[in-house]
Amino acid sequence: MDIELPKPVLTGTLSLEEALMARRSVRHYASDPLTLEQLTQLLWAAQGETSGDGRRAAPSAHALYPLKLQVLATRVDGLDAGAYGVTPGVQGLQLLHRGDDYQSELQRACLDDQPWVGEAAAVIVILADAERMRRHFAEQPPHNRKGERYLYQELGALAQNVYLQSVSLRLGTVLVGGIDEVAASRALEIEAPWQVVAVMPVGLAPARAAVPK
Ligand SMILES: Cc1cc2nc3c(=O)[nH]c(=O)nc-3n(C[C@H](O)[C@H](O)[C@H](O)COP(=O)(O)O)c2cc1C
Repeated sequence: MDIELPKPVLTGTLSLEEALMARRSVRHYASDPLTLEQLTQLLWAAQGETSGDGRRAAPSAHALYPLKLQVLATRVDGLDAGAYGVTPGVQGLQLLHRGDDYQSELQRACLDDQPWVGEAAAVIVILADAERMRRHFAEQPPHNRKGERYLYQELGALAQNVYLQSVSLRLGTVLVGGIDEVAASRALEIEAPWQVVAVMPVGLAPARAAVPK
């Protein structure tokens, strides 16, 4: 682990209902950097450990946890630009690649070349081990197709956590599911069985007035 992340903050200023009301997909960001605390908080909402037995903020079928995170950080205070692996319980980051070139390559791997992926201060990359899910459920007909479905259901729960946490921090994000998974994985040099299944660009939301006080 190259970088130890700060502890998550467990109190907020918005109610859950206010965050749900204000949640929108945000595709334009201010040029300001994120703080490491803000990034940590988003990662914690996605996959942080929330109990002593390893359970996480987002639910997981059979607690298999087939998803993991990477971060492309271009403008994050205290982080050199690069691609970072996130430890499973979100305690730290491991530098995997130095430089900001992955982010523009990832943008090109998104369907219709989505500029918010390249322009964001950071991109949360969601990786899945689909093979593990297929194997786990293969022996359970008629449920043997469940593994893959479960994986995408988990992805939705994870993404909604990030959306709501970002509203609470006055940040903006959007779930970008429209990606060429193979091209995105190649762009980030992801090794099998892991594959990129979605990305969430993050930045300061310019329209902060949209969030209730
Ligand atoms: C599974 C899924 C995939 C999505 N993929 C993209 C995408 O590739 N690019 C994008 O800009 N928005 C994407 N979105 C965001 C939707 O466009 C957005 O949620 C929808 O327009 C409703 O707007 P709202 O999120 O602001 O309420 C996706 C949303 C979901 C749930």
